[in-house]
Amino acid sequence: MTDTRTDHQPAGDGQAATRRLFIKTYGCQMNVYDSERMADVLRPLGYAPTDTPEDADFVILNTCHIREKAAEKVYSELGKMRVLKEARGGAMTIAVAGCVAQAEGEEIMLRQPAVDLVVGPQAYHQLPELLTRTARKRGERIGADFAPNEKFDALPQTRGVDGVTAFLTVQEGCDKFCTFCVVPYTRGSEWSRPVASVLAEARELADRGVREVTLLGQNVNAYNGEGPDGQPSTLARLFHALAEIPGLDRIRYTTSHPNDMSDDLIAAHGDLDVLMPWLHLPVQSGSDRILRLMNRKHGRQKYFDLIDRIREARPDMAMSGDFIVGFPGETDRDFEDTMDLVRRVNYASAFSFMYSPRPGTPASTMAAQVPDAVSCERLHALQSLLTEQQIAFNASRAGMTIPVLFERKGRHDVRAQAVGRSPWLQSVHVDNADHLIGQIVPVHIDHGQQNSLTGRLIQQKAA
Ligand code: SAH
Ligand code: SF4
Ligand code: F3S
Repeated sequence: MTDTRTDHQPAGDGQAATRRLFIKTYGCQMNVYDSERMADVLRPLGYAPTDTPEDADFVILNTCHIREKAAEKVYSELGKMRVLKEARGGAMTIAVAGCVAQAEGEEIMLRQPAVDLVVGPQAYHQLPELLTRTARKRGERIGADFAPNEKFDALPQTRGVDGVTAFLTVQEGCDKFCTFCVVPYTRGSEWSRPVASVLAEARELADRGVREVTLLGQNVNAYNGEGPDGQPSTLARLFHALAEIPGLDRIRYTTSHPNDMSDDLIAAHGDLDVLMPWLHLPVQSGSDRILRLMNRKHGRQKYFDLIDRIREARPDMAMSGDFIVGFPGETDRDFEDTMDLVRRVNYASAFSFMYSPRPGTPASTMAAQVPDAVSCERLHALQSLLTEQQIAFNASRAGMTIPVLFERKGRHDVRAQAVGRSPWLQSVHVDNADHLIGQIVPVHIDHGQQNSLTGRLIQQKAA
């Protein structure tokens, strides 16, 4: 090891990496993308990823502020990192990135002296510079202003691609201000990457063997990046351009807001085969009264109408969603409306959470906070209904022949098992298929379990 912690110059001349980087990621897919990009930014300095923090020269916790538990986890994890750092006589740099860094940067530095630097989600392209400054003086903190355009302009063109699927952030931030949510405060206001920049990254991914991209944004369907004509483009138009890229066979996107589900986006689901028939469209609650208190700016009927239109455009569309139970003032009747909505929509998968009051959000000071025991009971009832629907959806694929994109080897080496994805984002386990990784192949589905499908090849030739 040659690391001195004061020398952060590029390794240069293709020298082997000499520093080890450990990144732990919490929260949403946008953080997963950011973690990959942080590794890209640090690669020219000679940092190579390691799976364990014990031997890492640089540890980054990429954090999430969405619920209290997520945010608190960071402090306990930092406690563990401090012990590791002490065991190495201090020869470890610790950074906190992501949404907790943005929201509570100062508090982190005060609460955990082992932390060397704090970097917000729109500032991590400055990590090399920050590292150099930190080597001189602890306590660098960047991220108060939101300038995603600077970040994307500064990120390296080349990505460390690992596998045949990839995330691609096209939109950042949120202007919706749902009364329970911290995202508008941690990520800033809505901003979209220009079409040319998205296409360049997508082409690069396709050239390196990626066959499926998931476009990301806190409100990805509010995308309005600058198009080639200098005018704002819609997400649907971006999909049409992406569909032209050779080798890019599947497109997904997440997360969408019902109010930004535009006509051309719905139509794109009917027009573009590359757009996968799985849509994450969170509604949070089925009660009009609670939706109003949440400032969601639409009612349950609008959600039902949207889903009817989406299913008309793409009859095999599988729906996914997010739900919050125990929002302040939620009555049994309101909760029953949520259960009713879930029964009517029939989800293929969904996430559900107990409401968590977040500092600075309007809902956190609303009267009639629901007792934990009540929320907990409601969460169990909702989750068992959603699980039932997920099992039924998976079981409904049995007997079908479906295209599967093989992603990786399975656990059963002796059976040459491979794991892939169905169009509906289900994991599919297939024996004698580990030579097909990276290919889209028809698979006959034998069984649908709670969390995956099992099937067999019907032919050896790749699609
Ligand atoms: N932009 C997306 C959601 C981003 S946050 C949307 O509008 O749907 C991801 C999910 O976390 C939300 O959909 C919501 O279900 C949940 N969530 C956000 N804030 C929360 C809070 N304070 N307590 C519990 N769950 C919350
Ligand atoms: Fe949060 Fe609402 Fe914005 Fe989604 S739309 S990120 S829930 S404020
Ligand atoms: Fe969490 Fe930030 Fe994503 S708060 S959910 S990591 S945008």
